[in-house]
Formats: sequence, structure tokens, C-alpha cells
Amino acid sequence: MMKINVITIDGPSASGKGALALRIANIFGFKILDSGALYRLYAYFFKMNFSPDEIISQINMNIIFNNHKNRLSIIYKEDDIASELRSESIAKLASELSSKKEVRDTLFNIQRNFYDGDILVADGRDMGTVVFKDAKLKIFLTASPEERAKRRYLELQNRGQEVNMPALIADIKKRDFNDSSREISPLIPAEDSITIDSSEMSLDEVFSFTESMIRKEFN
Ligand code: DC
Repeated sequence: MMKINVITIDGPSASGKGALALRIANIFGFKILDSGALYRLYAYFFKMNFSPDEIISQINMNIIFNNHKNRLSIIYKEDDIASELRSESIAKLASELSSKKEVRDTLFNIQRNFYDGDILVADGRDMGTVVFKDAKLKIFLTASPEERAKRRYLELQNRGQEVNMPALIADIKKRDFNDSSREISPLIPAEDSITIDSSEMSLDEVFSFTESMIRKEFN
């Protein structure tokens, strides 16, 4: 198989994929695809009662992704809706919609179109197994449910939201189960991926570990 200039980062929720993808993109100057944001956008427009075709044209014509070094903004009609997309209600709907074949099929093309030959870092659940099977470098980033719940706890607390640790752990385990047991595009490491368990690693450590692989693969 002809390999393309893509680095895929897949893994369960709160494993640090997004932060790692952003760090890699910014340090190396690569393009970035946050595929979870596309599922969240699908849910956002679905909630506004757009039809599947309309959702696709909204995403293609009216959404602008901007990389601001330490975060991604998502502009819709001049408003940054990135934090709205991260709300629990959108996350829940995105998770439900993401198990539907027609939703995955339509988002497939949009995701593939992010690749234009320049090096792309793509994070999600099925980047290495489905969307960019032909990627040159595939990373599967994971961490224990307890550690991921701890990270999510801090993130939500920072945003001033009420959080309950046992409920967070239960929620993460439930989402893991749903993600890895669904029939289409289940969350599993690609055969040719490198698994990193970041339970005991900082973002800096995970980044240094991947940095050498990236330099080797992309010179
Ligand atoms: O990574 P995230 O939490 O932003 O993803 C939002 C939802 O989309 C999540 O329920 C999983 C789903 N998703 C998916 O099924 N496949 C992807 N490649 C990315 C996200």
C-alpha cells in the first residue's frame, strides 16, 4: 500500500490525543484534523434540525477551523463555537450519532479531504483503522480509566463545572465499552500502530517519545 503523509492518533476519550495532536502540529508546523470535532459539529447541526445533506454543506461551506497554537477554534457565522461543541449534551448526541453508518460514511469524505499531500496529524477513534489506513505513522494513545477520569475532572473543574469523580469513572468506562464494542469502526488499535500508555506519563514525556518516531518517519 502506498503510504501517505499522515500521523494518526487514536484512543479513548480523555487519553490526551487532542493535546498531543496539537503539540505535534504546532512544533512541526503540520496541519491538524480533530475528527471528534466533526462528529460534534454533525450533532450541533442535527440539533438545529438540518437534514444530513444540509449538515454536510454547513460543515463544508460555513465552518472554519483555526489553529491558535494552544487550542483550535471553530468558527460558524463569525462565532467561535468550539466550547459550545464541547458541552456534555453535544458530546452525548455526537456519541449516539457516531454509531450510525450513514453519519460515518458522510464524515469519511470530509475527513479524507483534510489531506492534501502536506503532513497531517489526525486524531480520533478510527483514523488509523478506517479513514487513514494508509498513514505512515499510527499511534494508539491510552491511559487507565482512573487516570483519564482524573484529567477530565481537572478540565471540568477549571471550567467551573460541578464534578463527581465516581460518576466520571463510571461514565468513562461506559463510553469505552460503547466505543470499542460498536459494530462499525470500533475503537481498536490498528495492527500497525504503536501503543502508548500515558497513565504515568506527562504530555511532555508522551511528546518526546513520539518526536523521535516522527523525525525518523518524516526526516
Ligand atoms: O474525541 P471527541 O470526544 O471530541 O469525539 C466526540 C464523539 O465522536 C465521541 O463520542 C466519539 C466520536 N468519534 C468517533 O466515533 N470517531 C472519530 N474518529 C472521532 C470521534
